[in-house]
Amino acid sequence: MTMQAASTEIASRTAAIIDEMKGLEGPLLPILHSIQEEFGYVPKDALPVIADGLNLSRAEVHGVVSFYHDFRAKPAGRHVLKLCQAEACQSMGSDAVAAKVKQLLGIDFHETTRDGSVTLEPVYCLG
Ligand code: FES
Repeated sequence: MTMQAASTEIASRTAAIIDEMKGLEGPLLPILHSIQEEFGYVPKDALPVIADGLNLSRAEVHGVVSFYHDFRAKPAGRHVLKLCQAEACQSMGSDAVAAKVKQLLGIDFHETTRDGSVTLEPVYCLG
């Protein structure tokens, strides 16, 4: 698929999701979650379509996407490894675990290994 075709495909699938959900109260977050479910991430090409569909500025949509770490700007690896970074786990040494995992994988949080096998994400309490 060419870049142009991929971008058109993203725009049309995004528009379909917006049509389906824009009647919801506070539709932006559910739409973003649905887009991430559809594509595995929130593609850059979807942002202007969302802004137009919800009558928001692109900056507003971009601000929400970048505020919530749940939304990915790129597809995740085949496995998503979530490491808790909240206080209780930190007191039990999660910082050292995170440092070791980062070193072993050669990536930081929110990154994916070059072979696409693992994406590393921080979470704040799995309880
Ligand atoms: S503080 Fe880490 S799982 Fe709850």
